[in-house]
Amino acid sequence: MNVLAIESSCDDTCAAVVQGDGQVLANVISSQGVHSRFGGVVPEIASRHHLELIDLVVLQALAEAGLSLDDIGLVAATRGPGLVGALLVGFSYAKGLAAAHRLAFAPVDHLQGHVAANFLRTEQGQFEPPFICLIASGGHTLIAHVREREGFEVLGRTLDDAAGEAFDKGARMLGLGYPGGAALERLAAGGDPAAFDFPAGGARPRAGMGVGRIEFARSLDFSFAGLKTALLYRVRELSESELATLAPDLAASYQAAIVDSLIARCEQALKVTGLERLAVGGGVAANGELRRRLASMGATVHVPAPILCTDNAAMIASAARFCSALAYPAYLPLDVYATGESAA
Ligand code: KG4
Ligand code: ZN
Repeated sequence: MNVLAIESSCDDTCAAVVQGDGQVLANVISSQGVHSRFGGVVPEIASRHHLELIDLVVLQALAEAGLSLDDIGLVAATRGPGLVGALLVGFSYAKGLAAAHRLAFAPVDHLQGHVAANFLRTEQGQFEPPFICLIASGGHTLIAHVREREGFEVLGRTLDDAAGEAFDKGARMLGLGYPGGAALERLAAGGDPAAFDFPAGGARPRAGMGVGRIEFARSLDFSFAGLKTALLYRVRELSESELATLAPDLAASYQAAIVDSLIARCEQALKVTGLERLAVGGGVAANGELRRRLASMGATVHVPAPILCTDNAAMIASAARFCSALAYPAYLPLDVYATGESAA
């Protein structure tokens, strides 16, 4: 069975066609590229662009797959979390398309999608549960215990900024553009990661934690607010010329602090679950320092291709294969959700 999926939770308009066995037939991503001048994604602008692009992106996905709607057995779309206006465009379009053709429809959680990117058939092979999954992007950061393909348990999540957001805000303070993760990494390459001792705060695990269920879960939460403030104060203390000289050291130390906290949480999650398998998703998975540290952890690490790590619809189609789809017209009243899972 072929799945046609749509993802529009942020600023990328995405459509993909995936076979029931996880083979990706098409994975189209239209990045809007209009938000950088504002230093972040502007929700209303993102929604309007989704409206303009969605039809073309879906048609292109079908064309690339060499299929028509008659060949599609299931339509899927991201239901949340994300920007409500952006989600609404893709979700409503997908429901309408499914309804018009009397097809079944699968509402998919965006984070479940990131996890399910690992189940796709790719050059790196499929990665099967059980494993720990780190999802670190501009919008979310969490550690999940993936026991089966149908769901996951959150072991820890960010209490404030996402890891990618921390990279972006750091990059902004250092005068780099948006999104700034990759630029900050390039700047950091010429710097000393030990030059500045940025605070561990809540962002790195404290000794003695990890005893008992609740303590354990809380010890795996992330916080990047203290780190961000520390960089801000450092930058404010410096003159323009000092900042120009020290920017690589600041970037390297800041990056090291983010990567340290991600790695520490992964190590803890593996230890407490007794697993030795780790998957990584989200835009921050592109970070070379994170990849180097992951590779030296001693666990089996699976990082999907970059195009499957960042937001895409193939991962949504992949997740849809394992969730209970709704027959027409049961899905028509469904609405999107901005945060958390909707009860409706
Ligand atoms: O998954 P993604 O494309 O979109 C969201 O769902 O947010 O992630 C984008 C995030 C941005 O915050 C970006 O700065 C970050 O991933 N990012 C990086 C790198 N490349 C992208 N962060 C650190 N190092 C990189 N090389
Ligand atoms: Zn995402």
